[in-house]
Amino acid sequence: MGSKETPCRARTTLCFLLLFCVSCKCSASEFEITQVASLGVDASPRLSRKIPDTLFGIFFEEINHAGAGGIWAELVSNRGFEAGGPHTPSNIEPWSIIGDDSSVFVGTDRTSCFRRNKVALRMEVLCDNCPVGGVGIYNPGFWGMNIEDGKTYNLVMHAKSPETIEMTVSLTSSDGLQVLASAAIRVPGGSNWIKLDQKLVAQGTNRTSRLQITAKTKGVVWLDQVSLMPSDTYKGHGFRTELISMLLDLKPRFLRFPGLLKLFLIEKIEFVMFAHILFRHIWDY
Ligand SMILES: *[C@@H]1O[C@H](CO)[C@@H](O)[C@H](O)[C@H]1NC(C)=O
Repeated sequence: MGSKETPCRARTTLCFLLLFCVSCKCSASEFEITQVASLGVDASPRLSRKIPDTLFGIFFEEINHAGAGGIWAELVSNRGFEAGGPHTPSNIEPWSIIGDDSSVFVGTDRTSCFRRNKVALRMEVLCDNCPVGGVGIYNPGFWGMNIEDGKTYNLVMHAKSPETIEMTVSLTSSDGLQVLASAAIRVPGGSNWIKLDQKLVAQGTNRTSRLQITAKTKGVVWLDQVSLMPSDTYKGHGFRTELISMLLDLKPRFLRFPGLLKLFLIEKIEFVMFAHILFRHIWDY
């Protein structure tokens, strides 16, 4: 019996509620005109409660280049040529070519020495009488590299070439005309990948610089994981000192990542963020 009555009673209640709401709506506009509301807050110490220190933290999400191009000090954008994903031809942007079709040919293949990031860049120098500045590739970083006078930058890249090839690595202005640092680098001929390190000390400042890798003689070279890091990163761990200092000045007690829904102790900030950034580029950059 009771179960039969319920729908009727529910309908009646609904009608009553609707009527009530309509009348409320009418009188609400009257209140707006005629009434002034006052809200009293009793902030006396008697009623206060201590807010726990552990309630304040920061939230980190790798969107809008918060990590790559932000907190991470890496200056090269798309250093593994993997922005297009694991397949070839891959997206090599923002890498661009120095030279024309008759002097240099650039493509991607899956021959990298890195098992998990197989895409590598293959660069073939076609010219015998190459232009004075050489031909090759350049990377403008994330909206231009901020290269500063007197600072040291560590270039690390992996390369492979069947024949020994002499290359030049340089930091230049975005038009390539102003050379801020330059060094000769030799890739010894062979069938194995090798890791090359080169320090570059800037002889000038330009906030929109680029990294150039060029050659002047015929040959073919594979490149991968091309990295350029300023030497003064936070505790040498690869984060931008000024940005990490700002975060630490907030004195956060935890660091939260989206999705993972985990809280990490702030003491572990460097390790956790590093691991997070090195994770596959889910935003394709
Ligand atoms: C940086 O390079 C650009 C050309 O790419 C040039 O117009 C600008 O004057 C340079 N800035 C400095 C500080 O030399």
